Amino acid sequence: MKIKSAEFVVSNSEVTKCPKNNLPEYAFIGRSNVGKSSLINMLTDRKSLAKTSGRPGKTQLINHFLINDIWYLVDLPGYGYARVSKSSKKKFQKFITDYFEQRTQLVSAFVLVDIRHKPQPIDLEFMEYMGESEIPFGIIFTKADKLKPKAIERQVDEYCQELLKSWTELPPYFITSASKNIGKDEVLNFIGSTNEEIEELRANN
Ligand code: GTP
Ligand code: MG
Repeated sequence: MKIKSAEFVVSNSEVTKCPKNNLPEYAFIGRSNVGKSSLINMLTDRKSLAKTSGRPGKTQLINHFLINDIWYLVDLPGYGYARVSKSSKKKFQKFITDYFEQRTQLVSAFVLVDIRHKPQPIDLEFMEYMGESEIPFGIIFTKADKLKPKAIERQVDEYCQELLKSWTELPPYFITSASKNIGKDEVLNFIGSTNEEIEELRANN
């Protein structure tokens, strides 16, 4: 899929105020500083469509971007700061869990993880929460420019092994680097073909 247009639409902290139309949307989530906003800029070929920062916690709201006038890309704040919690769900800000539980237009989420790190409990818990909530998701490994090819392979293998301890099937996953433009076509083609499937389903109903 080629990106012909990408425009910022709205930022807000309440899912009820998100765009009301029925366009399919894809949300990018993960720990603060993992590179969500940078990845969005890489995918859309716009240097500063989504605001990025070296300091964690830059993105604080639900941000909708309209792509090619037919789908939304959603930049979300990072999770992973809340310390005290009883259930895994409570670790994630309420407006984020509201977003995932109420946003019927959401087609798939992408959970971003830094390829340099071993599987982190908070990310695994978030994926578990997605599973419990029956929300389809893919995994995007970020910052692949920081590792050599062999190390990338090792990290991804290790991550898959960890996932297979609790999942019977692996989610789709993508290896990316926002600074070296890696993985762009793979992510965009996945979204493009998913959009086509949705269109077909809607046409047949
Ligand atoms: P929050 O909005 O705070 O949750 O962070 P975020 O996940 O949106 O991260 P952001 O895109 O703002 O990037 C955080 C930092 O990581 C910035 O300093 C980026 O320059 C850096 N970064 C992001 N992607 C990459 C990448 O692919 N490679 C390298 N080397 N650095 C990256
Ligand atoms: Mg951000």
